[in-house]
Amino acid sequence: MRKLNEKIAFFYLVSLNTVFAESKKRYVNVDDAEKIEVIDLTQATTWRDLSEYYEAIEKRWKLCLNCGVPGLGTAMHMELPGGEASMHLSVIPPDYLVTRLSIIDVTGLSNTNPPLVLTLDVAQQWISMKHDPREPTLLLFKFGWSEEDTHKKVRSCICEIPGLSYELAEWIATNMSHVVGVGTDAPTLESEQTREFSSRTVANLLGRSGVYIVENVNLKTKLPEQSCMVTTMPLKLLNANYVPARVTAFCPTTHVGKHVALTLRGDVTHQTAPNRLFDVDLDEILNN
Ligand SMILES: *[C@@H]1O[C@H](CO)[C@@H](O)[C@H](O)[C@H]1NC(C)=O
Repeated sequence: MRKLNEKIAFFYLVSLNTVFAESKKRYVNVDDAEKIEVIDLTQATTWRDLSEYYEAIEKRWKLCLNCGVPGLGTAMHMELPGGEASMHLSVIPPDYLVTRLSIIDVTGLSNTNPPLVLTLDVAQQWISMKHDPREPTLLLFKFGWSEEDTHKKVRSCICEIPGLSYELAEWIATNMSHVVGVGTDAPTLESEQTREFSSRTVANLLGRSGVYIVENVNLKTKLPEQSCMVTTMPLKLLNANYVPARVTAFCPTTHVGKHVALTLRGDVTHQTAPNRLFDVDLDEILNN
């Protein structure tokens, strides 16, 4: 697991006090003046897609996992079956899963060149890549991937999906010590440069450094690139490499000059629990 000595100091206990509904969106009132928008970045999956995938893995069918598994929806892995580090998602402590969100939007580049291989020198034009963030961070690459792009050629390793160059992944693994996870809105982080290898892959490189990968993230909503926090929660599934995850961003509604942070509030007013006397009894309904 990636060592993050001083990072714990940046984490405080969460205290989300007043939660209220406003139109369809939910806001959390942390400070009377500020609002936090809660945004779901998850793409759904189905039981059928899940079971097909796990069956294929179990029966060792030929799959090109380096083309991703679009049907799994938003999912996480640390490496792929056969990887050397054999690290599983279930061992990641939760404080690595509540992080700052840093978005690198390269939609403009991948629109003109769909099988984009994002290189280190190009990525370094984004502020997020230039400095090691001070807090544990999920680095999220937005390629502007849409489902219509999905080529279901996962058996052959020929798929036109934008991804990272090996050098870029190497830089993130070695030089950005607070990046605990790397995400993409595409089905995979692998690029043309790494896809056909079995060990020289982005997944192995990041996995060896204890960095997890999140794929098929839903980035249809425009988010501020630096000021959100995110929770990236995989199912605590044992002995599985590829696990569906729920990704939720917490962003300031007024984007300028505000960062979302987890903080401890002093005065907690205890609310008395509402009377449950007239609650609907589910058992009663089901048994009638
Ligand atoms: C990490 O940064 C140093 C200094 O900028 C650089 O020389 C080195 O090549 C980088 N490491 C990788 C793997 O890119």
